[in-house]
Amino acid sequence: MKMLSLFELSEAHKIARPIYAPDQSILLNRGASVKLAYKNRLEAFGILSVYVEDEFLGTIEDIDPVSDVVRQGATRIVQKAFDLAAAKKPLNIDELVRVANQITDDLLANRGCMVQFTDIRSSGAYRYAHSVNVCILATLTAIGLGYDMLRVKQVAIGSLLHDIGYALTDNPLDHPMEGFNLLRRYPMVHTLSAAIAVQHHERIDGAGFPRNLKGDAVHEYAQICALADMYDHLTNAEDGEHVLPHYALEKIMSEYNGYDQKIITAFVRNIAPYPVGTSVRLNDGQEGKVIAVPKGLPLRPVVKLFETSELIHLLDHSTLFVTEVIEKIPVAK
Ligand SMILES: [Fe+2]
Ligand SMILES: [Fe+2]
Repeated sequence: MKMLSLFELSEAHKIARPIYAPDQSILLNRGASVKLAYKNRLEAFGILSVYVEDEFLGTIEDIDPVSDVVRQGATRIVQKAFDLAAAKKPLNIDELVRVANQITDDLLANRGCMVQFTDIRSSGAYRYAHSVNVCILATLTAIGLGYDMLRVKQVAIGSLLHDIGYALTDNPLDHPMEGFNLLRRYPMVHTLSAAIAVQHHERIDGAGFPRNLKGDAVHEYAQICALADMYDHLTNAEDGEHVLPHYALEKIMSEYNGYDQKIITAFVRNIAPYPVGTSVRLNDGQEGKVIAVPKGLPLRPVVKLFETSELIHLLDHSTLFVTEVIEKIPVAK
């Protein structure tokens, strides 16, 4: 499986992961080929890249820690919440808490599974899919920090709704406070979960907004959500100019002034810097593609060499390591 831009997609390619319309209905299912006329439709939906099968890699098991069905269902429910908030109607908070709990349960059931895939988003559903992905990444981090179940679920619901303020304002500077004021009306949402909305753009060095909070005044929950937010924006940029996971992780690791080191460490532990399908160069000069990432050992992937198709298990070769990624995610022109 590899990610291709629409620009490079031909009828010979087979879709490897389902593609969803903004209303979360399936546009193209796994195994489908893309007729040229259909490319215009994808483009109209703002879908600029897709996952296709890669003959060199062969069939790879889908190993996302949260199933596509849960992800899509959650995206739909978040969209509904934004619509209700914008219409000044009450949120269906029971349903939102249920979704956040379901994501938590999926992540616990697939414990140790690395985050490898970027979800493909239509521009119409960008903000909602972003909310769900931030929830997944933040919840994984909370689990990694050893939080008890109550606290993990508080992080999950707060992160799922961290940007709900955008339903009430277009001003980026106002959305944290708008979100907080909305969420604190619901007793089912703990104050600390609501505080994620108001604090997720704060930094411990005081350089954040809206209140330039410093140090411990920025709650851990908000710091967790902030890192997830940053990672998602880097790897799923709305304009298509996203970066590969290892660049995004380097950027996160360089943010030690903005966030507690313990939280940064817990965050990066869950993400594969060289996900399946990445072309890499090893320190002995050999080149190949990552075909598997062992649980908990993201820097020791299994690499299939381009020249010989030999499988190199980096776990068994202590002197070998990845020095470089040799391709970029193609961006549609
Ligand atoms: Fe935000
Ligand atoms: Fe966000």
